[in-house]
Amino acid sequence: MRTAVYPGSFDPLTNGHLDIIKRSSKLFDKVIVTVLTNSAKTPLFSTEERLELIRRTTKHLPNVEVAAFSGLLVDFAKQNQCNVLIKGLRVVSDFEYEFQMALANKNQMPEVETMFLPTAQEYMFLSSSIVKELARYHGDLTGLVPKEIEQDILNKF
Ligand code: COA
Repeated sequence: MRTAVYPGSFDPLTNGHLDIIKRSSKLFDKVIVTVLTNSAKTPLFSTEERLELIRRTTKHLPNVEVAAFSGLLVDFAKQNQCNVLIKGLRVVSDFEYEFQMALANKNQMPEVETMFLPTAQEYMFLSSSIVKELARYHGDLTGLVPKEIEQDILNKF
């Protein structure tokens, strides 16, 4: 069974993330979307809230599981007998950081491979921070986040 982990802060999930989830679910038998801690960020949504938003949005995808983990990504991968990490790349500026992360993860777990999927063109500019900024000032989130969680995000402000 080929399993991949798709890690992120998902604070909150956007259509850019969902696009990567759908595409990777066609490439692997199982994809585990994993909410992790990015020590450089203070999340707005609690871990439970982020899990619930992702679960609600992906419930129609039978081979997608949702989990949270509070340690190193590679430790989660090892615990789940998984050696593929999926990352979405948006712009060239993502590359340097993601390349460093891929090498750091490989240093800790030599058998792990990071697979980069190019983010869909229409979501190249998108990030969770942009979504939060728009929501804070009552901007239009149509097409940027899954319809079923749009109101939850707006309600947070
Ligand atoms: N479409 C739209 N936006 C996307 C996207 C896509 N396909 N892919 C990523 N983004 C956005 C994210 O929403 C995020 O936005 P934000 O900065 O406004 O929050 C931004 O791009 C960066 O995403 P990413 O690089 O995936 O960072 P992240 O914070 O979501 O996830 C972790 C980083 C959690 C995976 C990483 O910190 C981690 O692995 N932590 C665990 C500890 C560990 O093992 N560290 C590594 C070894 S030192």
